[in-house]
Amino acid sequence: MRSALVTGGAGFIGSHLVDALVADGRRVTVLDDLSTGRWENLVGALNRGVRLTPGNVTDPHAVARAITAERPDTIFHLAAQIDVRHAVADPVHDAVVNLIGTLTMLQAAQRHGVRRFVLASTGGAIYGEADVVPTPETAELRPASPYAASKAAAESYLDLYRTLYGLATISLRLSNVYGPRQNGAGEAGVIAMFCAAAGAGHPVTVFGDGGQTRDFLYVGDVVNAFLAAGDNTRTGCVNVATGRETTVLAVAQTLGLRVRHAPERTGEVRRSCLDPSAAATALNWQARTALAEGLDRTLTSMSPAARRAQVASVAP
Ligand SMILES: NC(=O)c1ccc[n+]([C@@H]2O[C@H](COP(=O)([O-])OP(=O)(O)OC[C@H]3O[C@@H](n4cnc5c(N)ncnc54)[C@H](O)[C@@H]3O)[C@@H](O)[C@H]2O)c1
Repeated sequence: MRSALVTGGAGFIGSHLVDALVADGRRVTVLDDLSTGRWENLVGALNRGVRLTPGNVTDPHAVARAITAERPDTIFHLAAQIDVRHAVADPVHDAVVNLIGTLTMLQAAQRHGVRRFVLASTGGAIYGEADVVPTPETAELRPASPYAASKAAAESYLDLYRTLYGLATISLRLSNVYGPRQNGAGEAGVIAMFCAAAGAGHPVTVFGDGGQTRDFLYVGDVVNAFLAAGDNTRTGCVNVATGRETTVLAVAQTLGLRVRHAPERTGEVRRSCLDPSAAATALNWQARTALAEGLDRTLTSMSPAARRAQVASVAP
């Protein structure tokens, strides 16, 4: 991989990926509509020659502009509508961004001779309430929200483009990612909100008994998985996760937070944890950052102003 297009590159995970690609000497173009991303996330990368193309992944003209600028050999497709509650309220908009957006990117990749296409998919949502935990890639998909359904459908289009056109596609099924630059809306937004509350000394609300588990994955580890997937020939889908289950209550306790309990939310998955062994074999990748260390880095990265902004969304 010499040059890459990163969609959603101004967002939480995308901006960390852009930083890593640039540090590794790759030419990088970012396509982002700034709906949730911020150019400020790219300040360091901008000074190192990253090309920014404002635009929507559902707009074929914007996508063609972004691709012809640098003729990337690899596309990392991270742009998405990531808010599960919004997806429930407006499933059509969710599908337009997550499914039609992916299809628009695949079509452009095929037309412009892109070599490799890496999708940010979701293991945290796509398996639903799984029979086996940690859940392997062979488990039945049970999308429990329009967001999960649109990601599952996007994955099948990747498979189709591989079969029909020989485009080397891979879907990384990420668990619950956390770290610096995250806001509270995404799948591991609970950590962003808890860290904000910790910084401000506020209590947090935990739904039910707090015994629901998640597979919390530090963003630096996710970036390494994307880099490995970009440089690899493996296709299909791979879980990117720690394989460790942590309760929401344990996260609150690790951060020393006072907890208030609220009624359990209907439809919330009780246990979510992914088996990462295929990623170790196929991508030579494994998560390396312990949760305590990742939480510490996330807390340290939050400026007082950033903490105040986050706190506004969690304050009582
Ligand atoms: N954060 C997690 O825990 C997690 C877990 C599993 C999968 N993912 C996936 O990883 C990817 C990145 O997530 P994130 O947490 O960094 O979210 P994010 O909201 O910070 O990043 C998404 C980026 O995409 C951009 N975007 C949204 N719609 C767009 C459109 N139509 N056209 C162009 N740009 C658009 C946003 O402005 C933003 O910069 C997403 O595909 C998400 O589904 C995230």
